Parts: sequence; structure tokens; C-alpha cells
Amino acid sequence: MKLIIINGPNLNLLGKREPSVYGSLSFDDYLRNLIKQFPEVEIEHFQSNIEGEIIDALHKTGFLFDGIILNAGAYTHTSVAIADAVKAIPVPVVEVHISNVFSREDFRHTSYLAPNCKGSIIGFGLDSYRLAIESFLIDTNYTN
Ligand code: DQA
Repeated sequence: MKLIIINGPNLNLLGKREPSVYGSLSFDDYLRNLIKQFPEVEIEHFQSNIEGEIIDALHKTGFLFDGIILNAGAYTHTSVAIADAVKAIPVPVVEVHISNVFSREDFRHTSYLAPNCKGSIIGFGLDSYRLAIESFLIDTNYTN
């Protein structure tokens, strides 16, 4: 199984950015550990602060990979273009958020992406990414 984690704006600052909300671990350190936990899964990672680059990454992987784990950061709450890209590709996308967006500001309560995603995993810290991977593995077991 081949999965890609696509991270949007400001997520390159994980570990340094608002640690009380997002924790103090860098994504690279988290990812190293995550990859070790799933030796049977090929896990790629792409991060960009640029909306169009996130869309390009969805187009590039959305016809090839088995699944996409997408944390679009603040674009979640604003981007019709990313929502359209998710809708345009056949590969299932799981939306992920580190923080519980529903316990934060009102503008974070809307996701333009969620209706086009397979599901959403929200508020479990960095572990949200691990749970998203698990969701793809559970599906595999059901279909086998
Ligand atoms: C986030 C939540 C968004 O509201 C915020 O803009 C982010 C991170 C999260 O993972 O909790 O950048 O997607």
C-alpha cells in the first residue's frame, strides 16, 4: 500500500509553531517514527505553503497512490480549489487535523474539503496521522 501525507501551510513549523496547540515535536521526527510503525506501508510526505502546489500534488498522486492523507491547514476553511481537486481524483482522501478545530475559532468549524473526503480525523494531535493510516489498513482488511 502506498500512501502520501500532504501537509499545507505552516505545518512545516510543527514543533516550533504554537506548541500549546500543535505540540513540540517536528513533523520530520514524527514521520520517522510513523514510518517505522508501518513497515508494510510505503509512506511519502509532501508539504507546501502554496495552494497551487497542494493541488498539483493531489493531481500527481490522486491517480496513482492507494490513499491520500491531507492536512490542508488553513486552506481547509477557505479553498474551493483544493476541495475541487479532492473531488476530481479517484484516490480516497482522508482529512486530518492535529487540533480539535471545533473547539477553536468559529472560522475553523467549516471544512470545504470534508464533503469530498472519505472521512475526517480531527483533534488527536499528531496521532491523527497514524489514525488516518490505520483507517486505510482497516479498509484493506474488509475488502480482502
Ligand atoms: C490545522 C487546523 C487549521 O485550522 C489550522 O489553520 C492549521 C492546522 C490542524 O492540523 O489542527 O494550520 O489544520
